Amino acid sequence: MNELHSRVLRQKDELINDRRWLHQHAELSWEETETADYLESKLREIKGLTLSRPTPTSVMAVLKTGRPGPVVAIRADIDALPIQEENELEYCSVHSGVMHACGHDGHAAILLNAVRILCEEPELLKGEIRFVFQHAEETPPGGAVEVIAAGVLDGVDEVYGLHLTSILPTGQFGVCEGVLTSATDRFDVTIHGKGGHSSMPHECVDPIVTGAELICALQTVVSRSIAPADAAVLSVCRAEGGSAYNVIPNTFSLTGSVRTYNEDVRARIEQRIKSLSEGIAAANGAAAEFSYSRGYDSIVNNTELTIMGRKLIADTFGAQHVTELSPIAPGDDFCYYSQKCPGFFVELGAANHALGSDAPHHNPKYRMDEEALVYGLEYTVAILRSRCGE
Ligand code: NI
Repeated sequence: MNELHSRVLRQKDELINDRRWLHQHAELSWEETETADYLESKLREIKGLTLSRPTPTSVMAVLKTGRPGPVVAIRADIDALPIQEENELEYCSVHSGVMHACGHDGHAAILLNAVRILCEEPELLKGEIRFVFQHAEETPPGGAVEVIAAGVLDGVDEVYGLHLTSILPTGQFGVCEGVLTSATDRFDVTIHGKGGHSSMPHECVDPIVTGAELICALQTVVSRSIAPADAAVLSVCRAEGGSAYNVIPNTFSLTGSVRTYNEDVRARIEQRIKSLSEGIAAANGAAAEFSYSRGYDSIVNNTELTIMGRKLIADTFGAQHVTELSPIAPGDDFCYYSQKCPGFFVELGAANHALGSDAPHHNPKYRMDEEALVYGLEYTVAILRSRCGE
C-alpha cells in the first residue's frame, strides 16, 4: 500500500464525520451560514493557511509555500437544495425542507480533509494553492460569479473541481475532454387570449388550445431544427391555465428547460421557441409573451489538463477506474472558472446499488456511497501534489 493511500485511510473517520455534519446541517444557496462557519472553524485549526470570506457564506483557504511555482485553485461547492429528505439516516438533515441531495456535503468534506493532509508537509510543495469553498452553486446566477468577482481566481494558473455522481459506480472517475456539461437555460411563454363562457368559444380566443398546439410544436424543435450530430434537450415542465370547468381563461402559460452543448445550437433553439410561440399565437388570434433566461454555460475541460488528469487517475487507482464520459446534462457554475483559466472538472462515481445509493441527484432519496469520499480525497491530494509538488 502506498504512502498516500494509507494516509488517506487514516483520514477516513474525520472525512466521514465532516460529511455527515455538513449533511445534517444542509443550507440553501446564499444561506450557508452554519456551513461556512463550520468550515472556517475547522480550517482555523490547520496551521499555515490564510483564510478569508470572499462573500458572506463562502470560505477561501490559501496555502502559500513561499517557493516559486504555479498558483492552483480548487473548488468545492457547499450548498443544498429545497428538498425534504426521505432517507432514514441518523444524520438526516435537521433543516426541514432542505437537503444535501447533490453531494455537495461530500465535495466540501473531501476538500477540507485534503487541506489537512497537504498542510502536514508544506515543505514538499511549491507555489500557492487556493482552496475555495463556494456557496450557491444550485441557484443561477450562482456563487461562482461572485467569488470570481471577489478575486479568488486572480493570478491563478489552473483550476480543478470534482462532482460526485450517481451515474457511475463508486470509484469510477468520469473524464471528458472539452465540453463536459450542458448549458442550462429556461424559457417562459404566456399566451394571451380572450376568456369567456365555455359554451361560447366562438366569442373567445382560447389560450389553452393555442398553448396545447405550441407544446406539441415545441417537440419538433430538436427533431427538425437541430443537426443529428448535435445533442440538445427541450422539455416543457410546467403548463398552467384556467380555474373553472366552464370558463375559458384569458391566459395560459408554460415554462421549460433547454440543455445544449454549443453556442450555435443554443441560439438556434432560443430563436425557434420564440418564432413558434409568436407564430402559433398569431395564427390563433392570440398573442405570445416570450422570455428566455440563460443559465450556466458549459464547463469546458482544458485538453492538456484532461490528459494529465486521466493519467494521474490511472496511475493512482489503475486504468480500470477511468471512464471516458460523453458530455452530461446537469449544468454547474464551475463553467465560469473554466472560462477564466485552464480547468479540469472530473465526475466521481458514488453509486452502489447494494447500498441503495443509486438514486438520482436532486431526489429526496439521494444518497452517496461514502467510500467514494475516500477516492475523492486521494484524487484531490494526488492531483495537487502533482501540480505543486517539488
Ligand atoms: Ni451539484
